[in-house]
Amino acid sequence: GTLEKIKEEGKLVVGTEASYRPFEYHNAKDEIVGFDIDIAKALSKELGVELEIKDIAFDGLIPSLKTKKFDLVIAAMTITESRKKSVDFSTPYFNAGQVIAVLDSEDQIQNVEDLVGKTVGVQLGTTGDLKVSEIDGLEIKRYEKIPQAFIDLKNGRIDAIVNDLPVTATFVKKVEGVKIVGTPFTEENYGMAIRKDDNELEKRLNEALSNIKEKGIYDKIYAKWFK
Ligand code: ARG
Repeated sequence: GTLEKIKEEGKLVVGTEASYRPFEYHNAKDEIVGFDIDIAKALSKELGVELEIKDIAFDGLIPSLKTKKFDLVIAAMTITESRKKSVDFSTPYFNAGQVIAVLDSEDQIQNVEDLVGKTVGVQLGTTGDLKVSEIDGLEIKRYEKIPQAFIDLKNGRIDAIVNDLPVTATFVKKVEGVKIVGTPFTEENYGMAIRKDDNELEKRLNEALSNIKEKGIYDKIYAKWFK
């Protein structure tokens, strides 16, 4: 199984989409860093192996996991019923919901209903994409990477962005002229995705996750990225 392979090769190969600060992104030195990356490092340490990261498009993560391009996915990925049909998830490790971001000057959009008639940016294949796709009468622009949506919002090409709160909050802190309206309108939990038949790996991962929580490592990583 995959767990034996990880031990034999001495490395855990993780798939992600690294333009999602503070969870996974390229820093100024072009290293992939972030909350998820530190969690992945801590988990591989628990397993006694090295960590290798593969950065691909978000909507390719589950297909590539299935064809064994990597051992698991850590990508701020929400545990959903529909994804659970094709992959398994670890126990939840983070809680986040969708929020709406608009320009400071925008005062018509206060909640999800106000998005009708507007052009809304989302990251392709995310829960934000799915949520917005359920609403009739709006135009959706789907981006490969969420930073591209923020560029378009600033330039007035779209009216709003629907995306995970911690990531949007990070943008709003760094970019002038953009604000979050309202509070999260979904309840979501992030999990690590593994292949359905990898029960041993799933068990070992959940153990490792609870170990890093018990040892206070999880809290340290949390404080580093969300203080
Ligand atoms: N939580 C959302 C989802 O699962 C967005 C995740 C986007 N992650 C990323 N690394 N770009 O659909």
